[in-house]
Amino acid sequence: MKKICIKGTGCYIPERIVPNSYFEATVDTSEEWIVSRTGIKERRMVLPGQALSDMATPASKRALEMAGLSPLDLDLIIVGTSTADMASPSAGCMIQHKLGAKNAVAFDVNAACPGFIFGLAVARKFMQDGSHRQVLVIGAEIISHRTDFQDRNTCVLFGDGAGAVVLGLAAREKDGELLSTEIYSDGDLWKLLHVPGGGSMNPISHEMIDQRLHYVKMKGNEVFKHAVRSMIEAAQKALEGSGLTKDQIDWFIPHQANIRIMEAVAKQMDIPVEKVIKTVHKYGNTSAATIPTALDEAVRSGQIKRGHLVLAASFGAGFTSGGVLFRF
Ligand code: ACO
Repeated sequence: MKKICIKGTGCYIPERIVPNSYFEATVDTSEEWIVSRTGIKERRMVLPGQALSDMATPASKRALEMAGLSPLDLDLIIVGTSTADMASPSAGCMIQHKLGAKNAVAFDVNAACPGFIFGLAVARKFMQDGSHRQVLVIGAEIISHRTDFQDRNTCVLFGDGAGAVVLGLAAREKDGELLSTEIYSDGDLWKLLHVPGGGSMNPISHEMIDQRLHYVKMKGNEVFKHAVRSMIEAAQKALEGSGLTKDQIDWFIPHQANIRIMEAVAKQMDIPVEKVIKTVHKYGNTSAATIPTALDEAVRSGQIKRGHLVLAASFGAGFTSGGVLFRF
């Protein structure tokens, strides 16, 4: 079995800051409600005209720079997203074009929030069979385009962002290792969190837009319960089989949807809160981007160092869930 490692990380966070006070002025909510129920103080959103690839391309360049590789070295690009630049082609092809990564095959994985972990799992298979050696995995999302700014139940939760990692084959003893990836789907529960309009079931029409079907619909409190249970299961599965225990984990990166979900998962898994990486207070829920952006920030701030053992878990629309364990 080939040893696969993370050679570089990168992220792009939009400049536009949207504080909770914005929503106090537009819907029936309060700073106190948002912070106490979600832990979110502000989030970032793209400017008009900025597309997904405009965030994912600089994030990828930073990851390549850390890895010491050029775009031409890549042989595979996988993008975890449900908000590509266009309905077609894929975000992967747009990013390949903008990077000039002519030697890479590129495609998207639509698995909502765990899209980045799904991307890692797919990349791992391609690398284990020896067919691909240098792989860019991206988690990126512009959820603000799918957010109903009249719906207080959802509009306060989301933000935009992009994160990326470059995977390669470990050559030296001190290189890290992608130890396990576990991914799951439960389509029976799709109605609890979905975007009904714009696909083949409710194609684009004036009527569909008038009914606001192109926006996220979520039964928040039901999603909450499933999120906690599924993230724990995915994280535990990622640990099982690695021969490692949760006490050996240096850092835990849960999907940054809600501080209460993150703390409940860490508490039930008996992971000390000091080991939990948190960005939800400043970026909100950026869906597939939460884990790679949090990873990159923790690496660049010196929290996560080479040799550290990192566990990450995510949950989202589908339902989907995923866990990943790696030594950085
Ligand atoms: N401001 C003020 N009140 C609000 C707001 C708001 N922004 N939003 C909802 N409320 C109200 C509701 O209307 C409800 O009022 P009612 O009792 O009069 O009907 C009350 O607050 C309680 O609503 P709940 O939904 O029970 O509140 P809860 O404590 O569950 O918090 C939240 C809501 C934050 C959405 C929470 O359920 C949650 O985080 N759910 C999980 C979301 C999630 O994890 N998604 C992850 C996957 S999706 C993805 O990542 C893309």
